Amino acid sequence: TKLYVLYGGKSVEHEISLKTAVTVLGSIDESRFEIYPVYITREGLWCTPEQLTQKELTAEHLIAEPKFHDPARSIGEILSGVMAMSGAKVVLPLLHGPNGEDGTVQGLLELLNVPYVGNGVLASALTLDKAMSKHVLAQAGIHQTEYLACRYEEWRTDENMLLLKAEESIGYPCYVKPASLGSSIGISRCTNRVELIAGIHEAFSYDQKLVIEREVIGREIQVAVMGNGKPVASLPGEFIHDHIFFNYESKYMDKRLTMSIPAELPEDLTQGIRTLAIQAYQAHGCEGLARVDFFLDGEGRLYLNEINALPGFTNFSMYPVMWERTDGTSYSELIEHLIGHAIS
Ligand code: DAL
Ligand code: MG
Repeated sequence: TKLYVLYGGKSVEHEISLKTAVTVLGSIDESRFEIYPVYITREGLWCTPEQLTQKELTAEHLIAEPKFHDPARSIGEILSGVMAMSGAKVVLPLLHGPNGEDGTVQGLLELLNVPYVGNGVLASALTLDKAMSKHVLAQAGIHQTEYLACRYEEWRTDENMLLLKAEESIGYPCYVKPASLGSSIGISRCTNRVELIAGIHEAFSYDQKLVIEREVIGREIQVAVMGNGKPVASLPGEFIHDHIFFNYESKYMDKRLTMSIPAELPEDLTQGIRTLAIQAYQAHGCEGLARVDFFLDGEGRLYLNEINALPGFTNFSMYPVMWERTDGTSYSELIEHLIGHAIS
């Protein structure tokens, strides 16, 4: 099977995609898959390595040294190459954030009629838009924190109105988040009006839409979900950290960060979280995979925080490790399962 691996991407989560790609490219069984890496630059150019057959091209080379790529190729050229190939083929999009995790690339692949790993157009678009995702969760009756969504136009028209609304219905401390990003980029924790205004400006520098949420003090619990018609949920995992706001730096650079899998929870709560994760997955129409993130407050109340259509996927990331601890699935087996769901 010819496997096209898309990575990088025109997104502020470019770096995370590279980390994911190094691990994935390094662990695919080359006797089973013929790998075609496709690197997408920060500017959105699609590149294939000049010499795909060159054996010394390791995953690290492909990522660290852009000279191995031929940036002259356009998306069209690469994709028509994909279509012209004979035999079985499948695409593995390892793209986080906008222009990859949001349904755009998925739409392109639908038009080409090539099977691809992970969520389709609608689920990708819904999960990457925090405001839309919250509306879907509310509709499905899944508990979440108080929130408010706002477009840039509304803010520009009447700044005071949004500030008053946020203070009245959300209060402090609150979080301001760009609607369509991941990895906590552009998110601020605000404890007063000055910080709220700064947070709003920050979020609007990344996106035309934002959400403001009431803070939930508690534990961060995550569940890995996989499958199409009958999805299955892993044991819950927990990030153990001592940050009030678990931001980009603490997610990717804090050496003291530890994962506790399975999370220490009473049995009924463990089962309840797994069921809820599947409900949220299905409410968004997810397929393939997603990581569902929760908060658990001191009174034992669960809040669904968000769903990630393409969760971080290095060998230290929650998603693969949760599966390993749940049923012993290894990293490379997991990738094969995901490819299996794409072509089934
Ligand atoms: N958006 C990052 C990659 C995650 O959810 O893991
Ligand atoms: Mg996220």
